[in-house]
Formats: sequence, C-alpha cells, structure tokens
Amino acid sequence: MTAATATTAETFRPALHYAARNTWLNDPNGLIFHDGVYHLYYQNNPLDNVWGNMSWGHATSTDLLTWTEHPVAIACNEFEDIFSGSIVYDRENTSGFGTGAAAPLVAVYTSAYKTASAHHGIQAQSLAFSLDGGHTWTKYTGNPVLNRESAEFRDPKVFRYDGDAGSYWVMVAVEAKDFEVVLYKSLDLKDWELLSTFGPANATGGVWECPDLFPLPVDGDPENLKWVLTVNLNPGGPNGGSAGQYFVGDFDGTTFTSATTVTDGPQDPDRLGEYQWLDWGRDYYAAVSFSDVPDDRRLMIAWMNNWEYANEIPTSPWRSPMSLVREVSLKSVDGSWRLVQQAAGERAPHAVQTPSFSLAAIELSDGRHVLDGAAGSVQRIELTVTPGTAEECGLIVRGGEAEGTRIGLRPTEGRIVVDRRESGQTDFHGSFASIDTAPIRTTDGSYEITVYVDRCSVEVFAQEGQVTLTELIFPAATSTEVSLYATGGTATIDSLSVTQYA
Ligand code: FRU
Repeated sequence: MTAATATTAETFRPALHYAARNTWLNDPNGLIFHDGVYHLYYQNNPLDNVWGNMSWGHATSTDLLTWTEHPVAIACNEFEDIFSGSIVYDRENTSGFGTGAAAPLVAVYTSAYKTASAHHGIQAQSLAFSLDGGHTWTKYTGNPVLNRESAEFRDPKVFRYDGDAGSYWVMVAVEAKDFEVVLYKSLDLKDWELLSTFGPANATGGVWECPDLFPLPVDGDPENLKWVLTVNLNPGGPNGGSAGQYFVGDFDGTTFTSATTVTDGPQDPDRLGEYQWLDWGRDYYAAVSFSDVPDDRRLMIAWMNNWEYANEIPTSPWRSPMSLVREVSLKSVDGSWRLVQQAAGERAPHAVQTPSFSLAAIELSDGRHVLDGAAGSVQRIELTVTPGTAEECGLIVRGGEAEGTRIGLRPTEGRIVVDRRESGQTDFHGSFASIDTAPIRTTDGSYEITVYVDRCSVEVFAQEGQVTLTELIFPAATSTEVSLYATGGTATIDSLSVTQYA
C-alpha cells in the first residue's frame, strides 16, 4: 500500500480544522502544550486513508487554528499497533528517562499486540519518551508497564494529581466492553497500582473508550472545584453511533464519585436524553483534553467523524478532520452542572475578523429567505432568534440549487435540529443522511446560536455553548448560500452577523 495521492481538487479540505495531508486519522492522542507549542498527536495510518497500521501521527500549532504536520511520531511494527493514549511532561524526571538537564515528555499508549507478539490478543499500556520536545520517541524497553491480560484495556489518559491525598500520577483508562473506567496511581509512570473503578453508568449502548478526568471551577470560582469524567462510547450516542458523555462529581485522589449518574448499570434506552453529552451531533468522538495549558484553561478536541461510516466519507487523499479546539468550563444550571464550550482557536489574533455581513432585527415570514452578501463556505455565523408562531425556524448554510444544511429550532418541542438530509453527498453510507436533534432551553424566549461552517462540516454552539452539535457535510463547492427560514408561521431574527475566514 502507498499513501493515497491527490487526484482531484480537494473540495472538502477544511480551512479551520486539522486534517492530515494524504492519510487517515482518528482519535486525538498525546495532547499537550509544551514550550509554547500545542502538540496534537493522533491515531494515524501512515500508509493509507482508511483505518489500519495504527501509529501516532503528529501536528503542531501555536494558535490552535493552523497546524503543521510532522513525520509519524510513534510507528507500529510487526508486534504492536500504537493505540490511543496521552503525554505528560515529567518535570521532575520521576521516570528516569531524562538525561542531564533535559526532562522528558513521556507518552503512555496502548500496545495492541499482533500475532507476532508473545502478548498476542492483549491490550496493555506502554511508554515511550522524547528528549527533543516531542519530535522523536524511544520506546521503553520494559514495556508493557501495565498489563491486566485483557483484550479490551486501552486509552490511558495520565495527569498529575496534587491534592489532599498526595502528589502522584493518575491514569484513567477503560475496560471497554465492561463499560468501566479504571483508575491507577504511579510515582514513576512505570509501576502502577489500582485505585478504583467507575461504571457502568448512564450510557452503555456501546464500548467505553478514551476517558478523561479533570477538575474545573464551578462558575469560575476557584474555591468550588468539581471533577469532570468524560467517557466516549461507540455506538450508543444520542443520535446514533459514536459520541461522548460526561459525569460531574468529586475525585479524592482514589475514587471518582459521580453526582450526575442517572442510571447505574446497563442503561435504560428511554433515558438516553437525560444523560450529559459532550456533543449531540454525529461527528464528535474520542474527545480528550490537552495537558499543561497555561492559566488552567481546559481545552478539548475530538475526531470529527463517526465509526458508523468513518472509512467511507468522500474525502481524498486524506480522510477525517479533527474538530475545532474548544475551551470547556463548568456552569451551574438548576442545581446541577453543565459543560459550556466555546471554540478556542478563533481567539488567535489573525483569525478574529470584523463581520462582513450583519442584520438588524427582522421579522421572518413563512419560507426561505436568501441573505444576499452573506454567502461563504468557511465562516462563523452568530444569530439570536425569537421564534414566533413558526414550528421551526433558523438558518440554512452551504445552500445551492438542490442542497442546504438546516440548523433550526423547534420551540414547541424544545429542541435544536441539524438536518443534513439534503446537505450534499450523502449516499456513500445508508445512515449518513440524518436529522439530528438536542434538547435546548430558553429563559426569555430567545436562542443564541453560533455556527462554524467549513468545507465539510458545521459545528453548532447554542445558548452560550451549553448545547453543541457537530456534523460532517459534503456539499458542492458552489453551494455557499446562507438563508433564513421559518416553517408554518413567523419568527424574529433579533441579530445576525457573518464573519468570513476564507
Ligand atoms: C477509539 C478507538 C480507541 C483505540 C483507537 C484505535 O476510536 O477505538 O479505543 O485506542 O480507536 O485506533
């Protein structure tokens, strides 16, 4: 096999999102801010644009918006695939991998052992280290460092715990088919001791993968910290296929105690809508956070695809983009907590542009209303809507002759909708054309929506980021129309602005 070569114009190559040059990618791995640079490693097939030969690809950015691709960082071999994991900066050289003044970056990854290995059929956790800022990596000769003789033990996320219980490394990983997060402790990243387990709880419609655990201040109050446990699952998401759920609670250095568990044990399918989701769209998976971001900011990124149709999306020569990087924070809502998310990359100085189009308040009658002067294929659209008598009202992006992606509100149902049934190419997989929804609430009758449109995606942040929906779309390059619509009645658009990025 050779890496795919570009034969057609890259209609779908994103402008605001990372995609590899000519290969496949899935989960983000080893996310860390180090020496002024954001590192994004990822599950990569260096030889093709479908899943396989799993290795860690590598890209870096200083603004979270533009990325530079580097050579493969950790490659598979005949004995093991390099599955998902994380990277820590081992400041104190607890691992002993450092030399002289240079402290190491240590990658903790899953060895998915192949037939040629004595561990064939097992998934266990292994280490590699870098002394050159994350570009070249050496595997530890004592691998694996944590082996439970399990075939489904993977995706270690390691962080430094400094709290009442002491100061040590904590690993969260999964026993994927048991719907269980396992927590381990280590002083040197090599010897690991079991602390506790969490799960099954809430959504268990598919394997649990790629967990993360981090503290966040509630409503910005550093005296009031809560811990957030994120767990991706596949399938079993709220609109089908891959998705990420989260729990909010406490971590005492040993045990995570959830305060937001709705159902313990196997899930009740009727209650899927009550669980907390990182994103309600079809294409936000394997979400995980960066380590060592300054000012205690918590930044997350996800793979913008869904295992249901991941290998078939019509992009070439690459396949699968990453989501935008998001800053997450915790807000108290009605006696519980919600993750609130905002795109982080748009804060980069060169990316903040003056809106090129804006509207004052207008009344919408029944129908579709094209906004002359607002067209584009890479843009941020911000609007506030107050539904009137309309059953559904909102925005249509990437519109053309016979296509368009609808992003709308159904006020009587209390839901926000992304309808990609006529979004462009949909026939590459039977389940792609879909209408996906999420619950949404308003206190004053109006709704705030920010949409990032790119060449093959829409990312919707509603109600100041309390609800997000991320979806791939594959429209014609010429489908750039932006319009407003109302069905079955009227609605008011209180404000709207469009910022063009490309
Ligand atoms: C999630 C996942 C992980 C695994 C990796 C393999 O998408 O299945 O659990 O480590 O992908 O590529």
